[in-house]
Amino acid sequence: MLQTILPFLYLLTASAQTLRLAGDSTMALGGGGSGTQGWGVELPQYLTIPVVNSAVAGTSARSFTNQGFFNTLIASVQAGDYVVIEFGHNDGSSGTAFDNGQEDAVGNGYNITQKTNGTQIVIHSFNFYVENAVNSIKAKGGIPIISSQTPDNIWTGTQIADGGRFVTYAQTVGTDTGITYIPHYNYTAQAYEALGMTTVDTFYPIDHLHTSVAGATVVAEAFVRGLLCSNSALKNFVNAAGKAVPNGCI
Ligand SMILES: *[C@@H]1O[C@H](CO)[C@@H](O)[C@H](O)[C@H]1NC(C)=O
Ligand SMILES: *[C@@H]1O[C@H](CO)[C@@H](O)[C@H](O)[C@H]1NC(C)=O
Ligand SMILES: *[C@@H]1O[C@H](CO)[C@@H](O)[C@H](O)[C@H]1NC(C)=O
Repeated sequence: MLQTILPFLYLLTASAQTLRLAGDSTMALGGGGSGTQGWGVELPQYLTIPVVNSAVAGTSARSFTNQGFFNTLIASVQAGDYVVIEFGHNDGSSGTAFDNGQEDAVGNGYNITQKTNGTQIVIHSFNFYVENAVNSIKAKGGIPIISSQTPDNIWTGTQIADGGRFVTYAQTVGTDTGITYIPHYNYTAQAYEALGMTTVDTFYPIDHLHTSVAGATVVAEAFVRGLLCSNSALKNFVNAAGKAVPNGCI
């Protein structure tokens, strides 16, 4: 009796799982506006698990925390849900003595803090904000995944330019917290270099950051390739179209 019921229960449990996405405009519905699109919108076509895209344009790991978006997402996490966290584009230094509400403290230590605006504000590192979210997601029985930011459409010869420090920090989060790290930057760079600069230029109608629907599709496919090459059990939810995305493991 148990033998016939257990697989059925397993299916019920599995089908209740959800993938939740935390990120910025490069992932969000509507991208950066003007017809651009975030890759999180194109991801569901490659998966058999429902996707809730909670990305918010203009956010960094810090402001996604401070504006309450992580708390809202974490409150909705059910045991067994996956959460992909991907930030970096809005996390860089404001370049001035004044805090812009987005920038993180420089460095990848969990507890690094930095004061700006005189002595009024203490800001933490990228790793501090992300690792807090990772720990809260784990506490709810969720399965966090850290993904490095997408590249800009900036080339060095025939190659996408190297990623900045937030790519490295994302990898450090994976190591420090023992969760799956998806090198999304690298997998997207691989896809772009295979297509070539002329084609990739057509994916960027307004600037070098926000993608068209076609570009968002390539970026979503690059994530799926990175997922298939990872050790995350989320790859069990990749469908036939997902298994057929181009390129190989890095
Ligand atoms: C920091 O100070 C600048 C200049 O006064 C101000 O524009 C900015 O809003 C302040 N940032 C925060 C987060 O309070
Ligand atoms: C960060 O600081 C807290 C409080 O002092 C401490 O408990 C924790 O171990 C520190 N974490 C790391 C990774 O250094
Ligand atoms: C991924 O890209 C980053 C940034 O360009 C680079 O530092 C790193 O070595 C790359 N990793 C792999 C596995 O290619």
